[in-house]
Amino acid sequence: APSERVSEAAWVLRSLLLVRAPHLLKDRRHHGLQQPRCGVGAELTEWLLSLSSTVHSRSQAASMWQALLEEGAIYHVTGEQPFRDKYLFYRFLTDASAVPGVTPSAPSQCERRDADERLTPILAFLQQRAPDAMLRMILRRPSHERTIEDQELIYEELLHLKALSHLSNSVKRELASIIKFESHANEGTTLFQQGTEGKSWYIILKGSVNVAIHGKGVVNTLHEGDDFGKLALVNDAPRAATIILREDNCHFLRVDKGDFNRIMRDVEANTVRLKEHGQDVLVLEKISSNAHSHSHYKYTVMSGTPQKMLEHLLETRLDGRRGSAGAEMANLPLRRCDIATTDLFLDDFLFTHIVFMPYPHLTQELLRHYRMDSQSNSQDQEFVVACKRRVIHFVHRWVMTIKSPVFNNTASNQFLQTLQEEVAKDVEVYGVALRDEATLMLSVAEALERYERDCSTAGISKWKLPTSGRPISLFGVPATEDSVHTHRAMRAIDDSKGQPGMCSEVSSQSHNPLMCSSVIFRVYCADHTYCTLRFSLQTTSDIIKRSAADKLGLRQENMLLVELKSSGEVLPLREKEVCPPTGLSLNGRLFISNKDHLDALMPLPEQEGPTEGTINQLEMYSTRELAYHITMRDWDLFGAIHEYEFLYQVFGRDHFGEVMCNLDVFLRRFNEIQYWVVSEICLTNTLSKRAQLLRKFIKLAAYCREQQNLNAFFAIVIGLSNVAISRLTQTWERLSSRFRKMYTEFEILIDPSKNHRSYRMYVAKLQPPILPFTPLLMKDMTFTHEGNRTSLDGLINFEKMHMLAQTLRTIRYCRSRPLGLEVPQVPKNETEIREYVRNLQVVDNQRRLLALSQRLEPKRP
Ligand code: CMP
Repeated sequence: APSERVSEAAWVLRSLLLVRAPHLLKDRRHHGLQQPRCGVGAELTEWLLSLSSTVHSRSQAASMWQALLEEGAIYHVTGEQPFRDKYLFYRFLTDASAVPGVTPSAPSQCERRDADERLTPILAFLQQRAPDAMLRMILRRPSHERTIEDQELIYEELLHLKALSHLSNSVKRELASIIKFESHANEGTTLFQQGTEGKSWYIILKGSVNVAIHGKGVVNTLHEGDDFGKLALVNDAPRAATIILREDNCHFLRVDKGDFNRIMRDVEANTVRLKEHGQDVLVLEKISSNAHSHSHYKYTVMSGTPQKMLEHLLETRLDGRRGSAGAEMANLPLRRCDIATTDLFLDDFLFTHIVFMPYPHLTQELLRHYRMDSQSNSQDQEFVVACKRRVIHFVHRWVMTIKSPVFNNTASNQFLQTLQEEVAKDVEVYGVALRDEATLMLSVAEALERYERDCSTAGISKWKLPTSGRPISLFGVPATEDSVHTHRAMRAIDDSKGQPGMCSEVSSQSHNPLMCSSVIFRVYCADHTYCTLRFSLQTTSDIIKRSAADKLGLRQENMLLVELKSSGEVLPLREKEVCPPTGLSLNGRLFISNKDHLDALMPLPEQEGPTEGTINQLEMYSTRELAYHITMRDWDLFGAIHEYEFLYQVFGRDHFGEVMCNLDVFLRRFNEIQYWVVSEICLTNTLSKRAQLLRKFIKLAAYCREQQNLNAFFAIVIGLSNVAISRLTQTWERLSSRFRKMYTEFEILIDPSKNHRSYRMYVAKLQPPILPFTPLLMKDMTFTHEGNRTSLDGLINFEKMHMLAQTLRTIRYCRSRPLGLEVPQVPKNETEIREYVRNLQVVDNQRRLLALSQRLEPKRP
């Protein structure tokens, strides 16, 4: 029904018409039908123009009639037309029930006077309404009927809209020819439903709407000037929310998908912020279209709440439609160039969720999405099934990418079991709609079973740290069998055809047993008495401390567990540090001591390291064979590291409470090789032999570089550049120019200036398999971690997560092809060399190394 003011205006105009120009309202024929009491648009316009000098133009008069028509106080006889200054028929609402042949009764004297008196204010009122009414009238016209003047009017209007303020004027001009008007009369009307296809983008001209999400209810309210419905169009994703009118009589501008894609898609706002309950929950940024032309996702996540990011991920990056299983990026080889061009949101999320969304939270949210049927009253089966499919696809990708940590965590392990059961039940309800997903779940179940089987076979063995502190068996089996086992792991890589998904499988295969096994080590007192402890790898410092104090009969108070380095340096351990034994420095040992007596701690004699070198052995080994075995060994150790261990390390040993022994061992390996080089040279007394050994190490570095074992290459060259070695002038003088040139070349490659530019350029050209210079990867991640906050104004800084994931992807890339080293042709002391490279004995005390060096070649006066 028309508003009071509009009804009043209509009454005044009709009364005056009946008095002054009664012939304008009469019965007329329209398409053969008798239409009672109609006026003609053009005549009504003319009459209103003549009624008062305040009405200045025909178009203004027509707009004033349109203001009446909009609220239904007058209407086109067949309801098809807005008001037009044309030969079209209109009727007053008051005459709706008029019958042909009956003339209306003329207004009384009193009514006449009343109408005359009210004329001026109602004209003013209609004139005020007219421009908007006119605009709406134009906006209702199909675009091909819009005249240049119409478009100009709309354009003027668009200039004032906040939702378009970021767009150029030429884009606004284009919009002016196609943008449409849409209005809805009743509060509670649903404009569109979550999960449906996006067809238009909307701007609110008048009124307000609620944004509702299944399982959450109303999360946001949008008002005049706000826009919505862009996400689905830009990302080709289903609607992320349902939009419901919050009041009667809401007006919108609407741009339909085809027009949107043509005009807007590439000139979108750079940043989109989604709010829930007044707080930002997701910030998206446009990806520049040239640089990422391969990706059809136009927005990338900058920050968000974990919950909302997951929601957005499920809705935009995982296909809920049938038959989409497996059609995901998982199956594409991830080459270095792809990393720059594909959408990595899912990959980033999987790699880093432990930082911002621990397993219990993630799995709880996944279940909530999976159980959409029980949480929302939406009976739309297609929507419900799509939610279920997405969760299953997510879980499949998650498990296949991350593996062991997912299986190993109690919350996620339990979740996988629950989900399996629910999927089994749902398959009965939804039948064929979930068939592909049931298959995916089956492969998840198989992976879980395989993992558990592996664990139980490996669980019996333990990981022993011999008195020297070095782990003798990495894979939980005795050293001799170790090689067999790892060899098997290598085969697994061979079979994988170099697919990226497989490398994580390999790493987790060798990784699994570790997670289950225990570690045996010693804790010493100041007087060098000790106890031997056996703990699971997950054990923290405080537990070790308590147990050691107990065994050694020490009082618990004021006791500290510390690492005592061979140099005598004392490093107290934080209480929550996980598995300190594997994190020790090369010849470091665990000591327990009273807080106040730390200064009195003296290293054990064995911490000094060997007093004699192994030159006699080394002379017998061919350098090529030595390099071969070093790289084989390093590759095994590198393959055993889970990418997550890098995160554990970067965020601190006490942050996640997770084991990172494999990374410990690999980083330790770097130091081991480095100090082995220094120690061996410093322990070789004869000058000629020393020079010979120096040449051997230079050759060894060359072979390692050739085998793309850049970790060992760096370790050797950094070892050679240690002052204890570089100061041995007499030794270096004995090098031929060929060797000197080689070494200079190496020095250039390890030059750290410009953030290791020469190395980065070198490694960028290599194809996997690569053993990267791992301390630099650690440094990059630490730099990212320390330079960027994890959370910004309560939202997770996802850019940081992306940067961390980039490094993790590099690691995955390096391992994405099997190590196909050529076996040395006539292996001589194969077993012996293999054992040798596993048990390098080193001096890691720089002061002692310098002293040895000085004794060999005293400083010339
Ligand atoms: P689209 O997914 O196309 O359809 C629903 C729209 O609701 C969505 O685009 C956003 O424009 C808008 N919206 C506003 N707030 C939110 C929110 N918190 N979550 C999701 N969508 C929102």
